[in-house]
Amino acid sequence: MPTALIIGASRGLGRALAEEHLRRGWAVIATVREAAALADLAAAHGAALRVETLDTRDGAGVDALHARLAGAALDLLFVNAGIAGPATLPIGAVEPDPFAELMLVNALAPLRIVDRFADLLAPDGTAAVMTSGLGSIANNVGGWEAYRMSKAALNMGFVSVAQRRRAGRQAWLMVAPGWVRTDMGGPAATLSIDQSIPAIADLLARRHGSGTTAYVNYDGQVLPW
Ligand SMILES: NC(=O)c1ccc[n+]([C@@H]2O[C@H](COP(=O)([O-])OP(=O)(O)OC[C@H]3O[C@@H](n4cnc5c(N)ncnc54)[C@H](OP(=O)(O)O)[C@@H]3O)[C@@H](O)[C@H]2O)c1
Repeated sequence: MPTALIIGASRGLGRALAEEHLRRGWAVIATVREAAALADLAAAHGAALRVETLDTRDGAGVDALHARLAGAALDLLFVNAGIAGPATLPIGAVEPDPFAELMLVNALAPLRIVDRFADLLAPDGTAAVMTSGLGSIANNVGGWEAYRMSKAALNMGFVSVAQRRRAGRQAWLMVAPGWVRTDMGGPAATLSIDQSIPAIADLLARRHGSGTTAYVNYDGQVLPW
């Protein structure tokens, strides 16, 4: 039974990614900030689902989770947690504190987690972060200015960590889920969770063991930086 560690699985895309892997026969370790968020899934899936609590901003918490998982061999490490931040404001109107929070949650925290847990990744395992198509500089059509910056920073940092840590046949992937109807994506988004997440699970399976680093859309297309 392959094992996935999914960081930020309380709702939206992260929860659906955990459910999809459970459906596909994986053992899933899912982190949430409030354990109650996954009580129903835990009841339904028994030992296949292990729920851990983590706020990704908490470095000591990341270290403690790493210690609790000592000896695990992860076939998938997927950091999904993220926030929109001051999405509607032009960058000139964004205050330092909300900007720092956005960059911490969307860029630094996921990268610290990937760097910390890379030693638990199987030799053909996959490390992935949930980035966004909005992180592409080439495809920038305006809007969500601070958020775009946070995901471009995530991509840059992830490639840097991959250069240092990627080994063997591991795949290191920056995954854009499309515009999806979640709390963050809103009701006007073009995709349902069911159109995005199974496609992401398929692309993870196709890329598994490929020995590549890539910025990919949910449908498997490589995105321009
Ligand atoms: N929906 C879209 O259209 C879309 C498009 C591109 C990229 N994305 C990315 O996809 C990921 C998931 O988005 P979503 O649409 O599912 O958003 P969502 O419904 O707002 O869910 C966000 C998730 O991130 C978790 N989270 C936020 N801050 C956290 C922290 N400090 N520590 C631990 N967990 C934290 C939340 O946990 P709590 O329940 O505890 O708050 C929740 O599980 C994000 O990285 C987002 O940027 C989404």
